[in-house]
Amino acid sequence: MAKNKLEKFRECKTFTNLIQVGYFDLLKDYPLKGHWAKKYFRNQNPIVLELGCGKGEYTVSLAERTKDKNFIGIDNKGARLWRGCKTALEKNLANVCFIRTRIELIERLFASNEISEIWLTFPDPQPRNSKENKRLTSPRYLTHYKNIMVPEGIIHLKTDNTALFEYTLETIEKHKHSLLFHSFDLYGLNLNDEASSIQTFYEKMFLEQSVNIKYLRFKLG
Ligand SMILES: C[S@@+](CC[C@H](N)C(=O)[O-])C[C@H]1O[C@@H](n2cnc3c(N)ncnc32)[C@H](O)[C@@H]1O
Repeated sequence: MAKNKLEKFRECKTFTNLIQVGYFDLLKDYPLKGHWAKKYFRNQNPIVLELGCGKGEYTVSLAERTKDKNFIGIDNKGARLWRGCKTALEKNLANVCFIRTRIELIERLFASNEISEIWLTFPDPQPRNSKENKRLTSPRYLTHYKNIMVPEGIIHLKTDNTALFEYTLETIEKHKHSLLFHSFDLYGLNLNDEASSIQTFYEKMFLEQSVNIKYLRFKLG
């Protein structure tokens, strides 16, 4: 039987792979900042983030395929994270954890050079100009990412939203970041890479509506 939100929240508290940190917990740096690989995952492997991960499809699927990397999914919605945590536990994935917090606090969680790659999977498009700062590919967020990523780190964006995609392409060009690949129709290309072989909850909804999925990856300049 499907669980309701309260049951999920209760179960979330028992999950060993979920860390829940509120705004006040992050008024100072989180104790694992700079030490996630060594002290949490007990290895020295690179760390990949999925931001706004929802049910964590990328975090879980990439972790299954790539055992020599660590994966952390971040979202502020506990009922969605419940799904990713549960699946990762059922699959015994030791290279996965989830953090329930707000993405804008990531510099309190991670030190410079601690993150090797970031996936942005179907972020809220925030279409109003007055909300530009809330777009996960705005200069404000790119600065947060730059401060925690290795110099050659890669950022991936998948979206259904043409305006957000074009905005991101313009931002990459304007701020002299390096665009590595982009397509307005990912599934028109018949690729079999990480971008096209994993589908998120929102992505499946958009595909059912025959919306073209856009994908790009870039490095911060
Ligand atoms: C449109 S959903 C996409 C979820 C998932 N990536 C997918 O493709 O199915 C956007 C997600 O981003 C999360 N989110 C948006 N802004 C956030 C923020 N500032 N901090 C943490 N999570 C955020 C929402 O809770 C939501 O789960």
